[in-house]
Amino acid sequence: MSIGIIGSGQIGSAFAQALARNRIKAIVANSRGPGSLASLVADLSPYIAAGTVEEATQADMVLVAVPWSKIPAALAGLPDWGGRIVVDANNPIEAPLFKPAELHGRLSSEVFAELVPGAKVVKAFNHLQPHLIAGDPRAEGGNRVLFYSGDDPQAKREVGALIERLGFAGIDLGTLAVGGKLVQFPGGPLPSLNLVRFN
Ligand SMILES: NC(=O)c1ccc[n+]([C@@H]2O[C@H](COP(=O)([O-])OP(=O)(O)OC[C@H]3O[C@@H](n4cnc5c(N)ncnc54)[C@H](OP(=O)(O)O)[C@@H]3O)[C@@H](O)[C@H]2O)c1
Repeated sequence: MSIGIIGSGQIGSAFAQALARNRIKAIVANSRGPGSLASLVADLSPYIAAGTVEEATQADMVLVAVPWSKIPAALAGLPDWGGRIVVDANNPIEAPLFKPAELHGRLSSEVFAELVPGAKVVKAFNHLQPHLIAGDPRAEGGNRVLFYSGDDPQAKREVGALIERLGFAGIDLGTLAVGGKLVQFPGGPLPSLNLVRFN
């Protein structure tokens, strides 16, 4: 399964680090183009390569980690996703004001899903601070917990398998309507909880 990453900031690069540590390849993209990613790619070579947004979005699974107000522009003009998996790592709030976005009573993942027509959306990697995604998920002796949710069972299985392969303990929270609400930040009860599963 090929992996793309849109957004090379705190969360996008933390996810890239987690992949590279586990020798998993991916293409990462930002708004400024592949040339601006030379340093990140050099650090994570040979697993993480820089590409354009168009190149990264051709992958089987694409994680999007872009500030909320910039997501529409980041995903504009792309072809139908054709059933591929898009991981929504985003939260509807951003620096510097940290004022929650107006969602008109909807979940952020529902709003996000409309921006990726034809995609199977899985909400994941949005509830932990970047250093906890980038760092060793077994650092406390167990496995750090990552929640995920989505409406397509197969897409969730694929994301859950990747989460386990990265060394985290994945917990399936159910559908986007249920799990997306639990991990929504701000508002949900689960964001920022750094849990570790001991078996
Ligand atoms: N930071 C956290 O603690 C945290 C935790 C959980 C979830 N999140 C969520 O994760 C998402 C990303 O947050 P972040 O902290 O990683 O943000 P960030 O450090 O500011 O990075 C944002 C990234 O988005 C890229 N980007 C912006 N506009 C783009 C466009 N039109 N096309 C392609 N790429 C574009 C930027 O590329 P350029 O620099 O080239 O413009 C940059 O690489 C947000 O939705 C946030 O709510 C953040």
